[in-house]
Amino acid sequence: MANGLAVLIPLTFREGIDSIVRHGTSAPLYFYALAVILLTLGKGWGDYLTHQRIAGMGQRIAYDLRNQIFSHLQSLPPSFFDRANTGDLMSRSTSDVEGVRMFITWSLSTILEIFFLFSASLVLMSLMSWQLTLLSFALFPILGYTVMRFRHRIRPRYLAVQEQYGQMATALQENLAGIRLIQAYQQEQTETARFRDLNEELFRRSMAAARERAIYLPTMYWLGTATGGMILWFGGHQVIAGTLTLGEFVAFIGYVGLLARPLTILGWVISLAQRAVVSLGRIEDILSMVPPATRPAQGEFTVPPAATAGREQPVIAFEAVDFAYNGRPILRGITLQGRRGELIAITGPSGAGKSTIGHLIARLYDVSAGKVMLHGVDVRQLPLQELRRRVAVVPQETFLFSVSVAENLAYGRPDAPAQAIQRIAHDTCLWDSIQAFPQGISTLVGERGITLSGGQKQRVALARALLYGGEVLILDDPFSNVDAETEEQLLGTIRTAARDRVVLLITHRIKTLQAADRIMVVADGRILAEGTHQQLLAQGGLYGELYAHQCVRESLA
Ligand SMILES: Nc1ncnc2c1ncn2[C@@H]1O[C@H](COP(=O)(O)OP(=O)(O)OP(=O)(O)O)[C@@H](O)[C@H]1O
Ligand SMILES: [Mg+2]
Repeated sequence: MANGLAVLIPLTFREGIDSIVRHGTSAPLYFYALAVILLTLGKGWGDYLTHQRIAGMGQRIAYDLRNQIFSHLQSLPPSFFDRANTGDLMSRSTSDVEGVRMFITWSLSTILEIFFLFSASLVLMSLMSWQLTLLSFALFPILGYTVMRFRHRIRPRYLAVQEQYGQMATALQENLAGIRLIQAYQQEQTETARFRDLNEELFRRSMAAARERAIYLPTMYWLGTATGGMILWFGGHQVIAGTLTLGEFVAFIGYVGLLARPLTILGWVISLAQRAVVSLGRIEDILSMVPPATRPAQGEFTVPPAATAGREQPVIAFEAVDFAYNGRPILRGITLQGRRGELIAITGPSGAGKSTIGHLIARLYDVSAGKVMLHGVDVRQLPLQELRRRVAVVPQETFLFSVSVAENLAYGRPDAPAQAIQRIAHDTCLWDSIQAFPQGISTLVGERGITLSGGQKQRVALARALLYGGEVLILDDPFSNVDAETEEQLLGTIRTAARDRVVLLITHRIKTLQAADRIMVVADGRILAEGTHQQLLAQGGLYGELYAHQCVRESLA
């Protein structure tokens, strides 16, 4: 509508001016002047409405895209995040989405405007003078060339800019996460210099893109005014010859002006479009990652409910499992079984592959050969939800969210009743510490609240897993930050939990090893020995050595 009114404006001018020439009185001028004012008002109103609608559409698409990217990221396996840059993912989910939104908002209205204005003006102009119309479009090939060249050159520059944004976001994120370490090692200046280098590169790349844009604008301006000059010269002659009225002449210049504006914006829109293409590609990179775990399993299996599973049947079993991270072999020929009621300890030197065994059970990674089974069913054939509902994990590295202590405890069971949360806090020797927090169990943890000690965090993680339930409990070094006395109490709690599940406990602590039903010694990706503490001691070997070292250490302590 707005554009419809816009093309009427030069026509009104034509009528107004021609009426002066024809009648020589000023009477009708009021009418034409008022018409111009009303038309521009109407056009303004129409522009407002259109833009609002298109902006809404752009926001809506950006909103959907952000949600889609986020939920897709949730579904991707840890192996994806091993290789991905956090900052880069962040910039793809924010700055790239913004690029797409800008394009939708601005280009749609501009393209519509150009399309309509061109066809309408072309018709109206050629009705007045076809020679002059031809002349008005004489410089179009140059315009077309400029546009194509611009499009071609701006795209790689935008890609470079967006990539650099990703790198900077990664640097920033890493820096903030490691700020304590940086300050402790006095690396502030090195880090600042490193950031400055990245920032400088961003500046350089952005300037390269800006230079391209800067060439475009004056070229377009020149094309517009040069056309105006040609019309002045040729149209002026036509007016003198009487083949064109003065009003038509003015209207022509009006139309050229009318077309010049969207053409100038066209450059900007093209640059937006190129940026949007780059951004969409970067978003598509994420969305096209297929989460392997949610691939539909052929003929899905379900496992028997815990209650009916017999004691003699292993809950989890590894059958000759080999595993490699990105082609680097880590585990070889791992075979083990865990039955309900068993507390199995896994021990061995650092880097042996103990944590990796845990990852395979929760199916954070997939085996390269052999099978991991839950109740006799290959975990790759189980719906992931079903599997993870039955497996609770305490990772080696504790992670707490910036929510209250209670919410952290109930993270896997948001519906857990307050008594259950309290009981678990008691069982994990947390209750006294929690009582001492400013707001008790509702105290916020992390960025907006208090910082827990290493040992407190570890116990919160243990409590969280115990509350989550399941049939398999994997504890990765859960006592590394806990004193001997607390360790003993926690062991009691874990023993109780082990009555109706399998507990796999990765540890080096002698007390814990002694308490286990069975110990597996893992070294260099293999199970070296297996047995109770007494049996393994009798065998000597690696276990004997580990034990001897620790006894010496404890007697010194
Ligand atoms: N996400 C990963 N990507 C690639 N390699 C990994 C990854 N995680 C671990 N590794 C490698 O796999 C090997 C085994 O690691 P794992 O974490 O299982 O050792 P661990 O026995 O738990 O050691 P620790 O007692 O120190 O915790 C190591 O050499 C490690 O470098
Ligand atoms: Mg480990």
